[in-house]
Amino acid sequence: EWKMDNDIERVLYSQAEITEAAERVGHQLAHDYEGKTPIILVVLKGAALWAVDVMRYMEYTEVEFINVSSYNGGISSSGEVSLVTDIQSDVQGRDIIIMEDIVDTGRSLKFMKQLLMDRGAKSVKTASLLDKKEGRVVSEDVEYIGFDVPKAFVVGYGLDYSVDGKELYRNLPYVGVLKKSVYAQEHVGLVDDAITPTH
Ligand code: PRP
Ligand code: MN
Ligand code: MG
Repeated sequence: EWKMDNDIERVLYSQAEITEAAERVGHQLAHDYEGKTPIILVVLKGAALWAVDVMRYMEYTEVEFINVSSYNGGISSSGEVSLVTDIQSDVQGRDIIIMEDIVDTGRSLKFMKQLLMDRGAKSVKTASLLDKKEGRVVSEDVEYIGFDVPKAFVVGYGLDYSVDGKELYRNLPYVGVLKKSVYAQEHVGLVDDAITPTH
């Protein structure tokens, strides 16, 4: 009996399905980047689990990390993206694969692509576990997609939900829809005004 399972309405993508998707995307990338040494750019924190799964199927790559935030700790998306932790290496002339857990409004992706192109990256493509196309505010395409996800409140496999300032559910081994009772304001105990509905 695992307590976190009780907070989930239904499982959208099981661990086995995600493993399969990671293998499919990893093989695609290995094929498309054959003979190149791309930089896998892991977008913290959400993309950590997915990126590790995908890169196992690839050939020579480098791994870098970036942390951007589109939320200023408020209740909803501020629309402004800021750089929290920068990349450590020079991207000039390099092929970059942005690894995301989810692309929603597209704002984070747009920000990162702009940053990378400004710094002279040779190419920038994106591999995301989830693509929430209905959420798009700025038009951004995702070249490699694990799953097209409907507009639901999803958590797990890197995706968090913030309760009391604590980013929970990232370590769920599957992607699921969070129960309303967990994020509803009237639910006693678990949530207060500190809740930050994101995805
Ligand atoms: C989430 C998610 C993406 C981004 C997508 O990250 O992991 O990086 O938002 O949203 P967008 O398309 O609307 O910009 P978040 O900023 O919540 O940080 P986290 O990964 O640390 O949870
Ligand atoms: Mn993220
Ligand atoms: Mg988040």
